[in-house]
Amino acid sequence: MLPFESEALREVVWWRYVGSAEGQAKWHAHIIVFFMEQRPSLRRCEELPWHLRKCRKWTTLRNVLVDLRTFDVMYNGEQIKGGLFSYWRALVRGPLYMSDEIEASIVLQSSNPHEPELLAEFSSRVYNASGPRTGSSDALQKVGASKSSAILTKSATLLPQTGNPLPRTYTSPTFSINSEGLPNKSIEYYIDGETIRESVGETGKPYFVSISGKSLEDNVEMMKLICKAPGVAGIELNLACPNVIGHPIIAYDMTQLRTVLKTVKSLKLSLPIGIKLPPYFDFIHYQQAAEIINEYNSTIDYIVTMNTVGNTLMLSPYSNEPVISPKGGYGGLSGPAVKPIALAQVRKFYSLLDSSIDIVGVGGVQSGQDVYDMVLCGAKMVQVGTCHWIEGANCFDRIVEEFEGILERKGVKDLEEIRGKLKDWSKAGAAIDRKGRKLEPKTAVGGAGGGKFQSTLDDRAFLLLACGVVVFTQVLCALLAQALGHLDVPWLAQLMDNLKK
Ligand code: DHB
Repeated sequence: MLPFESEALREVVWWRYVGSAEGQAKWHAHIIVFFMEQRPSLRRCEELPWHLRKCRKWTTLRNVLVDLRTFDVMYNGEQIKGGLFSYWRALVRGPLYMSDEIEASIVLQSSNPHEPELLAEFSSRVYNASGPRTGSSDALQKVGASKSSAILTKSATLLPQTGNPLPRTYTSPTFSINSEGLPNKSIEYYIDGETIRESVGETGKPYFVSISGKSLEDNVEMMKLICKAPGVAGIELNLACPNVIGHPIIAYDMTQLRTVLKTVKSLKLSLPIGIKLPPYFDFIHYQQAAEIINEYNSTIDYIVTMNTVGNTLMLSPYSNEPVISPKGGYGGLSGPAVKPIALAQVRKFYSLLDSSIDIVGVGGVQSGQDVYDMVLCGAKMVQVGTCHWIEGANCFDRIVEEFEGILERKGVKDLEEIRGKLKDWSKAGAAIDRKGRKLEPKTAVGGAGGGKFQSTLDDRAFLLLACGVVVFTQVLCALLAQALGHLDVPWLAQLMDNLKK
């Protein structure tokens, strides 16, 4: 409630009186209770809806907004008229990233805890990643029509771009490499009412816009434009694109990461905001990134981890050249091969981030088991990228059905029963693992639920065949040598005599 410019004062107050996400939730609750007891004034109309949205008290927010006096004050208040519309947009687009901890920690005398949420949450935990098949309303419409629970656009820039020269993508059964260079139709297209209507159709699914500006100023401009656009549910700010020539990955530079988040905070955006991160490999880097993100826990609603593994290289064994053309062949790695890296990101950030910041897991997900693994590591939502690219939007139906099947088999009623509940390695667990492996079909690669990408070769059959070929060739050579008189081995001579007969 302090003037926004008083950054230093805010810091002092925060450390003295707030101190943690829990402390923050408590203060939100105090402020909400305080204003709930007041008559609608300009101050109340400025503060109360903001705190309610922050705490995801959707039903109370709706009740406050439908009060006629409140409507009157807000509609006629030059400064807060925009807020009135953006709160309604948040309501009609649905409460997306419910923070259970905050929700549970706030007890409002005026709210009925048994009242159903105003709007549906995500219908499932799975939706599309920004990237392949997300560049046009035609493609997004297919995502919306599938069991994907939300629709996320390609990363937009201020102006349309054609991207890097072709060929810029390569796929194999176990991994893909791309260096598209952000081809997209511009922010104007992705927030256009017609694009959103075509993409969402009758589904009512939340529509998210991903942005990856060429500069911080571009990102600021795009975020402001998105907040003004009706029909957008949230923003995914991409801080991890590895493929733009001359632009390093933002979130690898901790100073830059802090500057970006500070700027985002200053914008007081009216929509939920997530940041997409690159993969980290050293624990110290996870820690540094998490510390900065936690500093901005009242601004950042969720992280999306992870983007592709940047700047990898694959050669053709035939041409001995890179398989893609841009940037000397370097491109972002994705697909099944990166799943262990993605799981590590989700797990590590789950242990380091404040519980008010949700985690969206992405990387190598192609089956219901992969979604389950992500949730076990702590993901609240899971995105699918490369598999969507290869299989098309039908993959969402298959993956969601597989995931629901697993939950049913395990008797999981509420995902919170399993989210983040990954256990440490144990002897008992290893015995179960050995048993499970024995039951696996011999063709599976990478364990249960390996999904579509499977080797058709049985390793043992292959080994046997190879040994047979070697033995057979050696006998043939020996026979030849004997026939040509280079060898004088009695049993071979005998064998040849027999063969002649
Ligand atoms: C591109 C690649 C990414 O990994 C990303 O996050 C955004 C865009 C691209 O090359 O177009």
